[in-house]
Amino acid sequence: MIMESHDSSTTGSQEMERIGQSKESGVYLGWKNLWVMVQDKVAGRRPILQGLTGYAKPGEVLAIMGPSGCGKSTLLDALAGRLDSNTRQSGEILVDGCKKALAFGNSAYVTQDDILMATLTVREAVYYSAQLQLPRYMSKSEKMERAEATIKEMGLQDAINTRIGGWGVKGLSGGQKRRVSICIEILTRPKLLFLDEPTSGLDSAASYHVMSRIIKLAQQDRRTLIASIHQPSGEVFELFHNLCLLSSGRTVYFGSTSAANQFFSSNGFPCPPMRNPSDHYLRTINQDFDVDIEQGFGEKTSTTEVINLLVESYKSSENYQQVQQSVYDIPLQNVGSVEKKGIQKSGFITQCLVLTKRSFVNMYRDLGYYWFRFAIYIALCLCVGTIFINIGSDYGSIQARGSVLMFVVSFMTFLAIGGFPSFVEDMKVFTRERLNGHYGVAAFIVGNTLSSIPYLLLISVVPWSNGVLLCWPTKRYTSLRLLRVDAFRLHDISRKPNDACRKRVV
Ligand SMILES: Nc1ncnc2c1ncn2[C@@H]1O[C@H](COP(=O)(O)OP(=O)(O)O)[C@@H](O)[C@H]1O
Ligand SMILES: [Mg+2]
Repeated sequence: MIMESHDSSTTGSQEMERIGQSKESGVYLGWKNLWVMVQDKVAGRRPILQGLTGYAKPGEVLAIMGPSGCGKSTLLDALAGRLDSNTRQSGEILVDGCKKALAFGNSAYVTQDDILMATLTVREAVYYSAQLQLPRYMSKSEKMERAEATIKEMGLQDAINTRIGGWGVKGLSGGQKRRVSICIEILTRPKLLFLDEPTSGLDSAASYHVMSRIIKLAQQDRRTLIASIHQPSGEVFELFHNLCLLSSGRTVYFGSTSAANQFFSSNGFPCPPMRNPSDHYLRTINQDFDVDIEQGFGEKTSTTEVINLLVESYKSSENYQQVQQSVYDIPLQNVGSVEKKGIQKSGFITQCLVLTKRSFVNMYRDLGYYWFRFAIYIALCLCVGTIFINIGSDYGSIQARGSVLMFVVSFMTFLAIGGFPSFVEDMKVFTRERLNGHYGVAAFIVGNTLSSIPYLLLISVVPWSNGVLLCWPTKRYTSLRLLRVDAFRLHDISRKPNDACRKRVV
């Protein structure tokens, strides 16, 4: 939408800067009475989120906090429109004042798990992603510059040439992988960014730097940022503007982070001096260890009662009324202005080329994709070839040749499964990138098919020719010749059984 009203004479970088500096660029996101139910085979229907109401505004950062399993990720999923199929959602989600769920590609989402291509280096992963995501009006060098700058923003310059690593291959540490995931999603400077536990695996200094840099970007460009966060340090907690505190899917508190202390104090749970406020809030509402309390190891009031008290207190507060009102409190210029990220994407051909190249590199470096199979096929070819080397040309050899064919076909078929684990990893990356709107199904299929052709040719031609060479000294029994002899023989038998029995084919 912004692009259409733009003067075509401006350069790519000027355009990006203009988009970045636009004061209307963020998204007003509001949700009212949001319920998410899950169909459980054992427990039946059970609510995960129970009538949540809240909002996120451009230039502000909303932190979603709560004990593990309270529904933080589910809230982010519901807002980003990517809930699992076994869940049911009800209530209103307002995107810039319009009642609609965010479709794929409208927002960027850094998931809790780091799903990355293990064989690529940090530089390659971010560069390929920049080429896939950044708009076509940006030149290649501008894309590279953006990728380089983002890598530096996330403090990954020292690990830039290190392979990401994964299952069985040591590479980046957990915290570095987390930062690569964030890097890839903030490349496009999205209008709305969801971060699910971005600081997990990071030390307190790294958490602070990563969060402060993301928040600085969000504030500069007035982006909207929603982050679920687990155990933030005092410094990180101070960076957030608003806090949504959840417990068992219910809102314990929603409002500015600075007013949270007052809320807890007024309900009889003041934060002790010298304690991190976020630690205090989480400790007050964590009911997972209520058993200890019942046995007399903890406080006198059970946590369930404390939570009920806080939830009721929040519902009857003035703050609650203000939040209800703020959901619809959207400036007129923002109403219905949500822009599809798809409009700014790179072209289909570029995507196919980049995906082909990336997939080719991945297949080359991942031994499990084709190289193991290639080695096993050669070994099998040598084994089967040497066992049947002097197969002869009498009638008994027909049966032996049938066995050879059966061996080869069944080994080929079963060993094809060997590439599955690598393909499954590929599919995980594809699913994440597709959900975030980086590219579509067609580009992935084209990329993956083209990149696999050389390897398929290699594993089908080389072991076979190896077999031919092996049989070459005997001259009479090359694979090709044997097959031809079989074909003639079967043809003869079907036509003239008696003649064929007498005939000797050499
Ligand atoms: N698709 C689902 N099917 C069944 N249970 C789910 C599903 N999604 C979430 N849950 C359950 O809902 C609760 C909250 O999950 P989640 O939002 O991931 O918590 P967290 O606050 O740790 O991010 C957990 O008990 C989880 O098992
Ligand atoms: Mg979670």
